[in-house]
Amino acid sequence: MFRFICALFIITITLHESVCDDCLRNATRRVSRTPTVFPYHPLNVTDDAAALRQAMYGLGTDEDALINVLAHRTKAQRLKIAERFKEDYGKDLLKDLKSETSGNFQKLLEAMMLPPAEYLAYELNKAMDGSNTDEDVLIGILCTQANHEIIAIRRAYQTAFQRNLEDDLVTRTSDTAQRLVITLCNACPDDQVYSDVNEAKKDAEALVRVGVLNLGVDQSALNNILYQRNWKQLQLIFEEYKKLTGYNIETVIKNEFAITRSIKNQSAFFARLFRKSTKGLGTNDASLIRLVVTRSERDMVEIKQEFEEKYGETLADAIKADTSGYYEKCLLALIGEE
Ligand SMILES: *[C@@H]1O[C@H](CO)[C@@H](O)[C@H](O)[C@H]1NC(C)=O
Ligand SMILES: *[C@@H]1O[C@H](CO)[C@@H](O)[C@H](O)[C@H]1NC(C)=O
Ligand SMILES: *[C@@H]1O[C@H](CO)[C@@H](O)[C@H](O)[C@H]1NC(C)=O
Repeated sequence: MFRFICALFIITITLHESVCDDCLRNATRRVSRTPTVFPYHPLNVTDDAAALRQAMYGLGTDEDALINVLAHRTKAQRLKIAERFKEDYGKDLLKDLKSETSGNFQKLLEAMMLPPAEYLAYELNKAMDGSNTDEDVLIGILCTQANHEIIAIRRAYQTAFQRNLEDDLVTRTSDTAQRLVITLCNACPDDQVYSDVNEAKKDAEALVRVGVLNLGVDQSALNNILYQRNWKQLQLIFEEYKKLTGYNIETVIKNEFAITRSIKNQSAFFARLFRKSTKGLGTNDASLIRLVVTRSERDMVEIKQEFEEKYGETLADAIKADTSGYYEKCLLALIGEE
């Protein structure tokens, strides 16, 4: 059942503008994505590990030196540096960083140092903790990952919590459960993008036969058709479906439109989340950290533009107004606004 809806949803969002990187690869309209944290070149992990060690050696900490290195390396590079740190000094870099820092700066460094899948698995779990499930967080994480990333997150989630991520999404989210499972499945059904009109026609006819609008029908028939086709092919199938029935497949799932809209325009979506995390009484630091750490290697430049257009101030100013010290400094470095 979920797989079915999932497949349907893939169509809806890809028809509009998918957020799945893999899907976008071949989409007609490409969205530009410009990170503010790039791979540092040439990377010398020995030098970086030494600089970090030096910054933390003895009494006191040279926070500027920590920021200089870590805010200008990608997460993958930071992890390599941590490996070398361990080899050269026999110490765990993250542990050292945590013992040398505190507060939000410490939390930010931790977010920067955790392996991506593990980090996101924890964030997802946090978002589903307690009585309120933070839907925006779930969507923001799940809807923007490529296939292989989703797979890695699921695995990390299983390892960390001994539970299945999809099960948690279903049980811990009430009315939104379906949508969330759907977005989890938003990754393309497969990576090879091929399409075949004749096959699409056959599938569309089969869909009409089993009655796609009737959710009481044998789901496995639908699943067989829908889930096993790639998004490109699914697009064709639903074009054919519309020719046959006059119906848009979106009508079947019209209550998903809000979510569709919210993720259709990704930079606008994240600009709004940034706004939410900085505006009003008190900053939502956990959210701000997550957004900066995850988006800085993807599309921070577009989000910053969108933020300024929409809210009439720069993201940097919004961050400056709400944060301070090395925490602020590191955030600004990550979003390319030192
Ligand atoms: C789209 O997919 C085809 C394979 O079907 C591939 O040859 C082509 O390079 C892809 N285009 C882009 C822009 O990735
Ligand atoms: C890194 O820098 C050190 C000097 O600080 C040098 O000895 C070493 O060869 C460099 N490593 C690489 C891979 O360039
Ligand atoms: C997203 O929406 C904003 C308006 O809110 C628009 O300026 C921007 O061009 C849109 N981006 C894309 C990629 O459609």
